[in-house]
Amino acid sequence: MKLFFSTFFVFLLLTLTTKAAPGDTHIVIQTRQTALVIRVDKEQTPTMVHLGIRLKNGTEYGAIPGNGKRGEDYTGIYNSVYTPAGGRNLLEPAIQVTHADGNASLDLKYVRHETSPEANGAILTKVYLKDPQYPFDVTLYYKAYQNEDVIEQWSTIRHTEKKAVTLHKYASANLYIPAQNYYLTHFHGDWASEMNPSETMLTEGIKVLDSKLGTRADLFQPPSFLVALNQPAEEEQGEVIAGTLAWSGNYQLAFEVDPLHNLRIIPGINPYASAYTLAPDTEFTTPAFIYTYSTTGKGGASRSLHRWARKYRIPQGQGNRLTLLNNWEATYFDFNEEKLSALFKDADKLGVDLFLLDDGWFGRKYPRNNDHTSLGDWQENPKKLPHGLGYLVKDAESAGVKFGIWLEPEMVSPKSELYEKHPDWVIKQPNRAEYYFRNQLVLDLTNPKVQAFVYDVVDELMTKNPTVSYIKWDCNAVIYNAYSATLADQSNLYVNYVQGLYKVLDRLRTKYPTLPMMLCSGGGGRVDYGALKYFTEYWPSDNTDGLERVFIQWNYSYFFPSIATCNHVTDWGKQSIKFRTDVAMMGKIGYDIVVSKLSEPELQFSQEALKTYDRIKTTIWQGDLYRLASPYTNDVASLAYVNDAKDEAIWFSYLVKNRYKAGSVAPIKLQGLNPDKRYKVQELNVYPGTRSAINADSSVYSGNYLMTIGFNPQVSARRESVVLDVTEVK
Ligand code: DGJ
Repeated sequence: MKLFFSTFFVFLLLTLTTKAAPGDTHIVIQTRQTALVIRVDKEQTPTMVHLGIRLKNGTEYGAIPGNGKRGEDYTGIYNSVYTPAGGRNLLEPAIQVTHADGNASLDLKYVRHETSPEANGAILTKVYLKDPQYPFDVTLYYKAYQNEDVIEQWSTIRHTEKKAVTLHKYASANLYIPAQNYYLTHFHGDWASEMNPSETMLTEGIKVLDSKLGTRADLFQPPSFLVALNQPAEEEQGEVIAGTLAWSGNYQLAFEVDPLHNLRIIPGINPYASAYTLAPDTEFTTPAFIYTYSTTGKGGASRSLHRWARKYRIPQGQGNRLTLLNNWEATYFDFNEEKLSALFKDADKLGVDLFLLDDGWFGRKYPRNNDHTSLGDWQENPKKLPHGLGYLVKDAESAGVKFGIWLEPEMVSPKSELYEKHPDWVIKQPNRAEYYFRNQLVLDLTNPKVQAFVYDVVDELMTKNPTVSYIKWDCNAVIYNAYSATLADQSNLYVNYVQGLYKVLDRLRTKYPTLPMMLCSGGGGRVDYGALKYFTEYWPSDNTDGLERVFIQWNYSYFFPSIATCNHVTDWGKQSIKFRTDVAMMGKIGYDIVVSKLSEPELQFSQEALKTYDRIKTTIWQGDLYRLASPYTNDVASLAYVNDAKDEAIWFSYLVKNRYKAGSVAPIKLQGLNPDKRYKVQELNVYPGTRSAINADSSVYSGNYLMTIGFNPQVSARRESVVLDVTEVK
């Protein structure tokens, strides 16, 4: 009730503030701290005049001048809210179309807008735009999440022209931001080296980040970025915009510094090979662009995104997760019932919740014993599993662990029964040689029959084995030779593929709303908030080397919360099991090791660590993240999660340099605590047979002290990783 009244009050205020200066309409989209203001002039031209701090007095939005421009805008639409191409526009458009009569111009005039509270507390503003010459409409949607300071923006495009219209470009948003300078942080990489950050000052012209890979679209770079205004991005200070496109296919993020030195950000589906044919009276909905504006640097931006994602986007974002033992690196394709049975017992002995059976369990005519065959033939291999999956599930359960399974349902091996039966279900050019990525091809999810097949693969597995408790959904190949045997318009392929995938996932989530599902894609090939609407967690990288992971996880943490980040302890890298465990704990921990090969102290350490994790996981998953010392500029990387009540912080520090005397030579300042509370600092995950260098009895400090003077976790070559529990003393 209280929520309803406060939402209603904000709604009333917004409705009032939308009627401002004479002749102009000001549309105000607000969150707790941020405002985005659209001005509509007498000619009904909608432009964006503010994205930044929310004003205290809402009536003053009407006084914002045309723009923070610094000179002549020849067109009056450099700051258009959705720049149409082909008219007077001179810059990068948000939308470009060819009408049914062949005319390639578009104008978009303001018609009206509506603002209404949503049941979940967000406020949705719809801005209706129309071409004065054509029955062609665009509606801009802005969903403002009040407490999280996040705006989710998308557009719908519709027309009633006599024939189809071609959409050449159809962005999700078009932001306009004036500042002195712009520093873009983007992330790039490849398999096993995902998310390397690169910060660059934007100069006049256009910088484009994009993907043309189709399925595993984020392999080289994800659709997520940070833009710092005026100064390079800092962790806890300065203006930063964090943005991410909720789309699992080809995307384009265009950053244009215009002739007035103002920044235009145009994110959306990649127009590359995707001129979209839109039939009359049908609606095209763009993916959502999700962004937050922070005055407290990258830290503030990522805490807002995490809160938003946990509450509104990721399934069970505020719920539980299962710890697990995966057999991929323990066995690869080489296993049978007997081996698995022993691994179930190991999983239980270790103390995890679930055993995850990976690749290699299927294929009858072509058994999957390596990665050259069988994708698509989702029936148990009778040689490896003579009693079938049902038997395995029960066997795991009687050993004391739940059972989960790996699938790669969008893919097909050239050597498979599925390919033999349905060659027309495969994406490939009819007159060109096949070209493979990891020896496989992609199924044509634009085809409703293929969508039904993929849905059935999962549904039949779950129907036959209703206690299967986890699915790891892999996706290892990109799209080569893009061509569908059934699609009427080939240039709709990349878009329809992703829409087809979402249709399948939508159906599955409707039937299995609580099933935990991991979004894999050979590592970080598909980490975005389009897919994360359906998946409870994601696999950041196949690279699980503890040291590498400090960096990889650090960079994902700008956008994605720890509860969704699967970190496994494996045999990659040279670090001790303690280091690898401490690193995996800063997210959702899992294991992919041979438990029987662990030494007695290693096993004991792991068992105890899992118990500790169970006790502290809520603070790690739901707490606010503070990145305290960056691995890029320090010997020691350090970060802490602080819970809402501020009575506990879990603090991780890792040695990331190996020069002589490298370590935490000085105290590290904590953040996010209550300055007036008193906290005890205790070390967790102390390795059997060793003693902590932290004396808990004498380690009681005020939050004020810990945040002003700091505390030295005593990281050194002898203590390469340190986990501290900072708890309130009552
Ligand atoms: C790629 C994944 O990232 C791995 O974890 C594993 O599941 C393999 N695929 C299996 O083929």
